[in-house]
Amino acid sequence: MSDKKHLAVRLERWFEENKRLLPWRETTDPYLIWVSEIILQQTRVAQGLDYYNRFVARFPDVAALADADEDEVLKYWEGLGYYSRARNMHAAARQVMHDFGGRFPDTYEGIRSIKGVGDYTAAAIASFAYGLPHAVVDGNVYRVFSRLFAIDTPIDTTAGHKLFAALADEWLDRRRPDVYNQAVMELGALLCLPRSPQCPVCPLSEWCEAAALGRPEAYPVKQGKSEVRPRYFNYLVIHCDDDVFISRREKRDIWRNLYEFVLIESEGALSMEELQQTASYRSLFDGVEVKVVARPFERRHVLSHRVIHAVFYTLEIDKASPRLASYMRVPFADVKHYAFARLTGLYFDHLGQSSRRPSLDWEE
Ligand code: ADE
Ligand code: SF4
Repeated sequence: MSDKKHLAVRLERWFEENKRLLPWRETTDPYLIWVSEIILQQTRVAQGLDYYNRFVARFPDVAALADADEDEVLKYWEGLGYYSRARNMHAAARQVMHDFGGRFPDTYEGIRSIKGVGDYTAAAIASFAYGLPHAVVDGNVYRVFSRLFAIDTPIDTTAGHKLFAALADEWLDRRRPDVYNQAVMELGALLCLPRSPQCPVCPLSEWCEAAALGRPEAYPVKQGKSEVRPRYFNYLVIHCDDDVFISRREKRDIWRNLYEFVLIESEGALSMEELQQTASYRSLFDGVEVKVVARPFERRHVLSHRVIHAVFYTLEIDKASPRLASYMRVPFADVKHYAFARLTGLYFDHLGQSSRRPSLDWEE
């Protein structure tokens, strides 16, 4: 047996004996596989599982997803982050209805033409649903291959992308691309871990150069990350009678089409007094009296390419100013019907109960 075959056989046998039982592994329905892969792109399996189950229970096929309102789709995505995934999937479901007559495409090129589907997801769907010989390349694959061959080429470069795509294709088991692809990823998820690879029990250790060198954690090599620019979000949760003011984020920015409370973004961290001096704050409350009714809630929120320093101020007014007319005014008890980013979810958690009005007995 060639090395290549031998390695694949070992890996696949290990997989069959050790794989996690996951619902998307029990199906060849391309729609279900697509949903699972989009969720798992940036979400761990443990967290993604519940979202997946709820999502496919409500949207069991491409037609159901295409028929839904975007707001409802986002609601099912609430808290998962990277909301463009949900918006793209929703648009893509409509694309499949129109361009493919509601039938999920069954060629790599057809799958790859779907909105939001990149090389990785196309290879995953093509191999898992149709057994087509396309190798997946994701973070697990980068880690496993960079270690197996002790590759120093940084993975976050064009040269790295090409090299790893070629390697993954070269080593793909063309007889069982579905099992093989899942097996490499599962090895990366369960044994070939970023910080603590389990080489002594790894089925590939006898071929692994990084393990032989005694430094598997040194791989994969990265060229370096770009600097993270902090942002400062001052959220005003403004109560008026039983209502609050919210708006939908419509600009090209994080959290597009999600809802939020009244936001004043600033260049740096502001104290309450400094915030009150800003032109935005003054125009919001022109001519009305503002009471601060709860202690500010602060959170440093880390996203993949952003750190957000957020402060939530809970305020009360007895009539709306003209400036607030450009916001949506909704009963506070109804805010749970709108999709908010996880950051605001943390504020709701902090209140104790998302539908309850914060207590008014706070004093400094
Ligand atoms: N991560 C990405 N795709 C996956 C899959 N199909 N199973 C488990 N983890 C994954
Ligand atoms: Fe990863 Fe260690 Fe297995 Fe090499 S031997 S593939 S480093 S777990």
